[in-house]
Amino acid sequence: MSSDSRIQPLAALLTAAFALALGCADFERGPVAEDAGVPPIDGGGGGDGGDAASFASDVHPLLTTGCQSCHRAGGSAGNTSFLLTGDADTDYAATVSLTDTSNPSASRLLRKASGAGHGGGAIYGADTPEYQTLLAWISGGAQP
Ligand code: HEC
Repeated sequence: MSSDSRIQPLAALLTAAFALALGCADFERGPVAEDAGVPPIDGGGGGDGGDAASFASDVHPLLTTGCQSCHRAGGSAGNTSFLLTGDADTDYAATVSLTDTSNPSASRLLRKASGAGHGGGAIYGADTPEYQTLLAWISGGAQP
């Protein structure tokens, strides 16, 4: 019948779409690609709906923990342009100028944090979850 010959290609298409969907699911279970652009960690418990990490909740704590001991007034990096105060709004302004959203991994913030020509050495190496959080934040537009 003529209707059968229309249904057949449609069924083939659906099968292909299904196989594709399966393929994607498989890919997600695979090892995390280096530049997948997906934040690997999400505070736990659903998050706030967005993909992009936020400065105040995701990034700022990493900086106060890993960087502020030197990067503060009177610290050993107190004479650099990167000074943290502990106040998220003030520190956002100081931090965002060190990011390059068009080439996130080349951002000064990440290069210094991972130890490239950094007086403070490698704080968050490129294989650490902290580095990935910073990278995801910059890739997501370096939002406050
Ligand atoms: C043990 C001390 C120490 C720690 C901890 C430290 N730094 Fe530094 N940092 C320095 C020193 C010293 C310099 C100045 C020399 C240089 O440019 O590398 C510096 C310079 C920098 C600069 C250049 C600032 C400018 O004026 O252009 C950036 C950006 C930076 N650090 C980022 C970071 C980040 C991000 C962290 C935390 C992940 C961090 N640093 C942790 C000591 C430290």
